[in-house]
Amino acid sequence: MDHFLYRDGHLYAEDVPLSEIAAQVGTPFYVYSTATLERHYRLFDEALEGMEHLVCYAMKAASNQAILKTLAALGAGMDVVSGGEYARAKAAGVPGERIVFSGVGKTRDDIAMALAGGIRQFNVESEPEMLVLSEVASAMGKVAPITIRVNPDVDAKTHAKIATGKSENKFGIPIAKARAVYAQAAALPGIEVVGIDVHIGSQLTDLAPFEAAYLKVAELTELLRADGHAIRRLDLGGGLGIPYARSNEAPPLPTDYGKLIRRTVGHLGCEIEIEPGRLIAGNAGLLVSEVIYVKQGEDREFLILDAAMNDLIRPAMYDAWHDIVPLVEPEAGQERVPYDIVGPVCESGDTFAKGRMMPRLQANDLVAFRSAGAYGAVMASEYNTRPLVPEVLVKDDHFAVIRARPSFDEMISRDTIPEWL
Ligand code: LLP
Repeated sequence: MDHFLYRDGHLYAEDVPLSEIAAQVGTPFYVYSTATLERHYRLFDEALEGMEHLVCYAMKAASNQAILKTLAALGAGMDVVSGGEYARAKAAGVPGERIVFSGVGKTRDDIAMALAGGIRQFNVESEPEMLVLSEVASAMGKVAPITIRVNPDVDAKTHAKIATGKSENKFGIPIAKARAVYAQAAALPGIEVVGIDVHIGSQLTDLAPFEAAYLKVAELTELLRADGHAIRRLDLGGGLGIPYARSNEAPPLPTDYGKLIRRTVGHLGCEIEIEPGRLIAGNAGLLVSEVIYVKQGEDREFLILDAAMNDLIRPAMYDAWHDIVPLVEPEAGQERVPYDIVGPVCESGDTFAKGRMMPRLQANDLVAFRSAGAYGAVMASEYNTRPLVPEVLVKDDHFAVIRARPSFDEMISRDTIPEWL
């Protein structure tokens, strides 16, 4: 459920008509709903009630400072995957003890920065990383808490580009090697094993792969404890999917996911961490865009929008579906016609949808891409020297620009000219 609903024929974000934001900010823009972000965070928090736990928002999904502050105020932890994300989390006021550091390529600088600023744990993804961590922490006179990310070789049944839990993926260490790697970890200075980490992929719409992975983690927990390791924390990753096509998708809810966690690992007495990103931010954000032209092609009609693949890359990159709705509510029974919905970027990949059935639209009409809050603004670029799309946050009946659209001058002035030119 989200807080983007039609009222009196117009699409609102909470109590603000989106057309009002468009008039003030211009299009395209991303808009997020505070109430929806908060609701989604709480669903996870409540799903784990009764177990010691921390919901670490995977901020790669949407990492604007205002979004991080909104979630941090509710007690959220953060899952970060780069020095930049760590800095963002800290800048938003998240204490180090609520930040977990994931990712296969942490550099020495990333590690040193997190050790200096405080960190809940590093989720270690390889033996070489573990050695570097041990070295850097020892040199700083610190002890780094770690989990080791295991790769359970489970098929997440999601898009190949976002599946991470199969043995051919670059993530984690093979679960079969885990006991040997934990033994190695126990012998290294500067690190302390606190648990196990697993994350098998994103946009999972079935609980079965989670169940398979978590059962393997439960079994490993017992084995490692028998080997003498104090496994007290399980980081179960993120990945729960959202409905992108509202009309025919109903993925499992956080409460079902919480029950699954309880059933598979609840008996172990471990503190539970989860790292949801998409489910918190995805349906809490829209991309609003204006129709520039309606163009009649040989055998089809094109809706040419002012948003493009550089603003929302998911359709081009993952063949992702986003519901696209007009800001003015279509009347019941209104005729629908097929459009190819495209952006202005100079490549055919800049296509959001083909043959999409829509009410008839005209130049200057506004449309919204639903489910664009996660992996939308964060994956945007300035390709074609299109300004980075601005972001707006709504709370009740007011809104604020939380990242302004850069001017052309600002964009150009980021370049520097070498002295020989
Ligand atoms: N934890 C780790 C270690 C991850 O790699 C990810 C996502 C998450 C948590 C959060 O997963 P979520 O709950 O959001 O599914 N750009 C792609 C998605 C990439 C996901 C990468 N890792 C997309 O637009 O679909």
